Amino acid sequence: MEPKNNRKNEHVSLGMKFFQKDQQTDFDALRYVHHSFPELAVEEVDLSTSFATFQLKYPFYINAMTGGSDWTKKINQKLAIVARETGIAMASGSVSAALKDPTVLDSFQIIREVNPTGLVFANLGAGQTVENAKKAIDLLKADALQIHINAPQELIMPEGDRDFSNWLPQLAEIVAAVEVPVIAKEVGFGMSRETIAQLRAAKVATIDISGQGGTNFAQIENYRRKTNKLDYLENWGQSTVISLLEAQSHLESVEILASGGIRHPLDIVKALSLGAKAVGISGLLLHMIIKDGVDETIVQVNHWKDELRTIMTLLGKKTIAELQQTDLILTGEVKDWCQAREIT
Ligand code: FNR
Repeated sequence: MEPKNNRKNEHVSLGMKFFQKDQQTDFDALRYVHHSFPELAVEEVDLSTSFATFQLKYPFYINAMTGGSDWTKKINQKLAIVARETGIAMASGSVSAALKDPTVLDSFQIIREVNPTGLVFANLGAGQTVENAKKAIDLLKADALQIHINAPQELIMPEGDRDFSNWLPQLAEIVAAVEVPVIAKEVGFGMSRETIAQLRAAKVATIDISGQGGTNFAQIENYRRKTNKLDYLENWGQSTVISLLEAQSHLESVEILASGGIRHPLDIVKALSLGAKAVGISGLLLHMIIKDGVDETIVQVNHWKDELRTIMTLLGKKTIAELQQTDLILTGEVKDWCQAREIT
């Protein structure tokens, strides 16, 4: 593993260090009622979905992670091969590093080089200018632009942003000015229904609520702090499940994507049942690509497609849209949250 010589490398190595394969999450608080007659065959199941202007063959994708160094170039190359060979979409990590330092441009551009015709999303932080947003899209010939919203991470990061006064208006300007769809995303702290309403008012049409349960940037940035650690913020935010429940009242007017702590295909199916159009995976795929390599990751990703068909058959649902009509029971703290927030 490459030495910790820059922030991008540190994020990857700490993402790996803290990754827990079988951690308990709020997905475990959701239970499907089992019905004994599926009344369909596995081959009838259709995994395709759509969001923004895109038709996807599969309802999951590689979410934003990395770029900005030699090591992360190699990781992006491997992830892009997985995306190309399995036909799933892929987002880059924040390209702001390349906008500041053109010598690392290739660590992002490798994604497009490897996968010239695949669906690729560029990624940039909130608070960026329209000019930079356009550059980020050009750099990757990106099909969409993800704008990440990560106030807790910035505040815990020693060198992070401290002024968030203009994030929302700047985001609205970018949405109005760029020619590809904009996806607003959290980075693992989740969203509230109020945040989603603000994003809708800024004319954002596609939102990844990216919640707690997996990669934890409060923990990662605290580890990077030498002094005055803010450990007590490490549980800040809403889980992916709670964020999806918060999104329920907006499902008719905005497209919701889900990410954060996806461990296996059953989590993907549960997120789709809660209204997500597609599901992003970061930490798990990073772990697989580094520990198991490209070929094994491709085999596993292809296996997930079969497993999704298996679970949907068990639920008697032929399409991603039908998955929204399942009998899903909420238990424990998730149920308490819904009561407290009057979510029905
Ligand atoms: C991320 N994530 C991220 N998100 C983003 O919008 N821009 C970025 O540059 C990064 N960088 C990044 C680096 C690493 C190493 C990881 C693991 C993750 C956040 C990511 O897209 C996602 O929102 C969270 O990681 C939650 O999903 P998982 O990891 O729990 O599946």
